[in-house]
Amino acid sequence: MQQITVDLGSRSYPIFIGEGLLSCRDLWRELIGTSQAMIVTNTTIEPLYLARLMQAMPQGNVKSFVIPDGESYKTLAVMHDIITQLLKQKFSRDCCLIALGGGVVGDITGFAAACYQRGVRIVQVPTTLLSQVDSSVGGKTAVNHELGKNMIGAFHQPVAVMADIEVLASLPDRELRAGLAEVIKYGIIRDSNFFAWLESNIAKLLSRDSSCLAYAIERSCINKAEVVAEDELEDGVRAILNLGHTFGHAIETGLNYKVWLHGEAVSMGMLMAADLSNRLGMLGKENVHRIRSLLEHAGLPVVLPDSLDVERLRELMSVDKKVRNGKLFLVLLKGVGHAVVTDEAPEDALKETLKSFLSTSANS
Ligand code: NAD
Ligand code: GLY
Repeated sequence: MQQITVDLGSRSYPIFIGEGLLSCRDLWRELIGTSQAMIVTNTTIEPLYLARLMQAMPQGNVKSFVIPDGESYKTLAVMHDIITQLLKQKFSRDCCLIALGGGVVGDITGFAAACYQRGVRIVQVPTTLLSQVDSSVGGKTAVNHELGKNMIGAFHQPVAVMADIEVLASLPDRELRAGLAEVIKYGIIRDSNFFAWLESNIAKLLSRDSSCLAYAIERSCINKAEVVAEDELEDGVRAILNLGHTFGHAIETGLNYKVWLHGEAVSMGMLMAADLSNRLGMLGKENVHRIRSLLEHAGLPVVLPDSLDVERLRELMSVDKKVRNGKLFLVLLKGVGHAVVTDEAPEDALKETLKSFLSTSANS
């Protein structure tokens, strides 16, 4: 088992990475003790892993609550249901919530924990690769509003993250690949050695080699923990974690969230950011090729669906959370392992990038 610390002073917490953590009674006894605890999970995870986790819990006050599966349930209404359960079961301020699931369960349970009685403890038990390397770490919690994704939320750090590699065995291939996009992101933004390791080991990761997965999750979490420790509330460097996300969100919204997974849209967005960086003379062509090649080997999309157009994508990019005072802030690249945030990308170069991916798509 590996342990990484997210260093936030009195709110520091461990990320445990290993096989079989769901059943690790000693760890759970240490974390939960005699507190009231509520495991929140969804209808897909419940039959797979809830009983296993329940059995490892200290005897006593542990309840569970199952929500429907899907991004469309990451809403205030479902969060209200979680709070209602806590009230009905008379949970007090010293209780602990446990989010057992992917990023959707983690985000909504995290936000419920942030709000219930002005804030209670939460342990994140991420079950997708994406949630193990990204969403369970760093304290961003949220639900969606009908007018925008993740628009209602709070920063609320967990007291621990338990990333059990064993549960990835049941994850669909497509979800695994989407998680790999976020893994590759850390190599591109700040860890060129890790990027080179990924180039050599991508086939093993796709075949779910457990020691390779453990290493990839560990390096991703180390990178995320370092960035979050430096800039918890995203006043500065944390923004680099959003490489490809402004393009990606525009693609997801343009496709009505029905065609591509988040990680797939981020993959496309990272390649667009690399292309734009190259157009602005910041990044050599050979590095754009390396990024494209790794994403392709990971089975991630590198061309856009034909249904999108430049004007619509550009318009959608303007409603991103990264727009401040009307200016669009983009994460661009000065090298593999070196991301920068800038509001100075010229409009014509940005549109050229959008156009080039659409024309690639039309010609492919
Ligand atoms: P998800 O939670 O929807 O999970 C994907 C699918 O896999 C779901 O159907 C889920 O039930 C299923 N699943 C989960 N674990 C499984 C397992 N072990 N075996 C079989 N099936 C399993 O999606 P996700 O990609 O984990 O997370 C996406 C969400 O995370 C989005 O809502 C996004 O906004 C959010 N997010 C948050 C942050 C953050 O910092 N808080 C960062 C990135 C993404
Ligand atoms: N997923 C981006 C962040 O946590 O800041």
